[in-house]
Amino acid sequence: MDAILQVVKDRASLDLSRYKRTSLERSIARRMRARGIADVSEYASFLTRDSEELQTLVSEVTVDFSLFFRDPELFDFLQQIILLKIVLRKKASGEGAIRVWCAGCGSGEEVYSIAILLFEALKGKASRDTVTIFATDVDASSLDKSRAAVYSPESIGNVPPSTRERYFHFDGSYRVKEFIKELICFGKHDLLKNPPISRIDLLLCRNVLIYLDPQGQSVVLRKLCYAVRPGGYLVLGKSEGLSGEISDFFAVVERGEKVFQRKDGDKCPFS
Ligand SMILES: C[S@@+](CC[C@H](N)C(=O)[O-])C[C@H]1O[C@@H](n2cnc3c(N)ncnc32)[C@H](O)[C@@H]1O
Repeated sequence: MDAILQVVKDRASLDLSRYKRTSLERSIARRMRARGIADVSEYASFLTRDSEELQTLVSEVTVDFSLFFRDPELFDFLQQIILLKIVLRKKASGEGAIRVWCAGCGSGEEVYSIAILLFEALKGKASRDTVTIFATDVDASSLDKSRAAVYSPESIGNVPPSTRERYFHFDGSYRVKEFIKELICFGKHDLLKNPPISRIDLLLCRNVLIYLDPQGQSVVLRKLCYAVRPGGYLVLGKSEGLSGEISDFFAVVERGEKVFQRKDGDKCPFS
């Protein structure tokens, strides 16, 4: 196991030591079965020779499954309450663009869902001057899928027909229209390793912490805490939560949907 983690660290620059061991073991066992390799050290040495297998293992470990408007009640809540508050606050303060960060964006469905809602909240006046949406992931192949923005009918199952009509082209697959795509800056970013983006009004980091061990979760939560500006919002996945000292920096806005608001006060340390 350690030999495999070392190869992934050296050759894919991904440190898996803070990921949950049980899911790592399951992913590695699946890849070994797929390659017909029974011996772990043989698989480690195969990984050093085969870069395609290395990328496949990374994608297997960093599961990128997502859906448009995954957890519809959350997106209703964001649309009806949170985005309106953010838009009003920005207008009142006269500050620059609204800043959104989708950290661990997977194959992109989540960030396009929020971009569509923000576009509507701004009554179609969203542009790079009024909105900056960052979408980051550690896995390059997930980012490729996100940038391509081509989706199957299954992944847009939660999208109402009128929204499909307005924001997608259909040619057998659903393609997100350019005016939504151009609101988003995609980039490779490792939440365990890289410094956080700052002054974020709305940060979605959903279904990422579940893959990490408690120490890894703590490292990431500190960075998320640093990233959100006082008064800004953090959204985690349904089965995720705040823990330890980080809980003190946030008020619970919607417990069931895991929506938190950053309290005013001290800067959160991220190292
Ligand atoms: C299940 S997907 C979540 C996608 C989306 N947030 C959602 O909930 O629908 C988890 C994503 O987290 C990314 N991820 C895992 N570890 C990460 C890390 N250390 N830094 C950034 N992204 C990471 C994976 O590559 C994967 O794309």
